[in-house]
Amino acid sequence: MKIVIPGGTGQVGAVLDRALTAAGHDVVVLTRRPARDRDVHWDGATTGPWAKELDGCDVVINLAGRSVNCRYTPDNLSAMLTSRVRSTRAVGEAIAAAARPPRVWLQMSTATVYAHRFDAPNDEKTGVLGGAEPGVPAYWARSVEIAKAWERAQEEAATPGTRKVRLRAAMVMSPGRGGVFETLLRLARLGLGGPVAGGAQYVSWIHDRDLVRAVEFLIARDDLDGPVNLAAPAPLPQRAFMRELRAAWGVPVGLPATRWMAEVGAFVLRSDTELLLKSRRVVPGRLLAEGFAFEYPAWQQAAADLVRRVRGR
Ligand SMILES: NC(=O)c1ccc[n+]([C@@H]2O[C@H](COP(=O)([O-])OP(=O)(O)OC[C@H]3O[C@@H](n4cnc5c(N)ncnc54)[C@H](OP(=O)(O)O)[C@@H]3O)[C@@H](O)[C@H]2O)c1
Repeated sequence: MKIVIPGGTGQVGAVLDRALTAAGHDVVVLTRRPARDRDVHWDGATTGPWAKELDGCDVVINLAGRSVNCRYTPDNLSAMLTSRVRSTRAVGEAIAAAARPPRVWLQMSTATVYAHRFDAPNDEKTGVLGGAEPGVPAYWARSVEIAKAWERAQEEAATPGTRKVRLRAAMVMSPGRGGVFETLLRLARLGLGGPVAGGAQYVSWIHDRDLVRAVEFLIARDDLDGPVNLAAPAPLPQRAFMRELRAAWGVPVGLPATRWMAEVGAFVLRSDTELLLKSRRVVPGRLLAEGFAFEYPAWQQAAADLVRRVRGR
């Protein structure tokens, strides 16, 4: 198949590009800074000559968007929103104008669209969307609004010949440089991988191998559309999540951090505590109901595999 990946130069794009290319597909990446043979230039906001790549391709997987690993300042939140909505609209316009539109458009979204909660897991059918939770900082609603606007941009695209799937992805755990796993492992190795603010908040995650397999599953299954959670079936509280990671690497201790210490740490790292403190309890209801089998359903085995690959790098 010819598979076009707008925004495919980042962490998730690298995982998908490598695996789909290795599987024999013809992968084209749309990027604002083309560097390799299969890179094609786009501006991430308006249609242009790049649109011909989508005409006659089989699959589009749109990953584009300003990184969320930043301080949630008004400027950064605005860039997070506009980069996602504009790039998604541009992809929709290109598909709408194509003489031979792709069979399927997988649109990245995020598990962050769901509410901060502890009581029950969020699946696609019974899950609660976020934005109105009591007792959380008001600005947390902004990342939920961004996620909803991002999804709406795909829903509103007039592309009747193309199946549309929204990928509500949890944190993608891959051993490559620059991903969330590298950051968490570094903290654990420094002895800082303990509970943060009590550590009861849930961490949803997916192993990179299962991310690829789920994408392949969704490409193949012509009967599936709409939102699909990409998360392992067993999210776990942050304190247990970090305990397993420490055990996988062989780090005996992980200092606990208060909410206040996390604020300082996130400030120093130019990141935001929402990424650490929001309880993302998201489960793959639809994937499991449709018969998808995870290779890494449990974090213990997933962490062991990722550590093995980091050590062998
Ligand atoms: N990583 C995760 O665990 C995770 C989990 C859930 C959802 N997601 C979402 O999945 C997508 C891919 O994740 P990732 O970790 O691979 O992200 P990433 O490393 O930040 O890559 C995203 C890509 O988007 C492009 N981009 C950045 N700013 C842009 C802008 N203003 N306009 C247009 N394109 C822009 C960049 O490509 P160029 O600079 O080459 O143009 C970049 O490589 C993101 O939208 C992310 O929010 C990620």
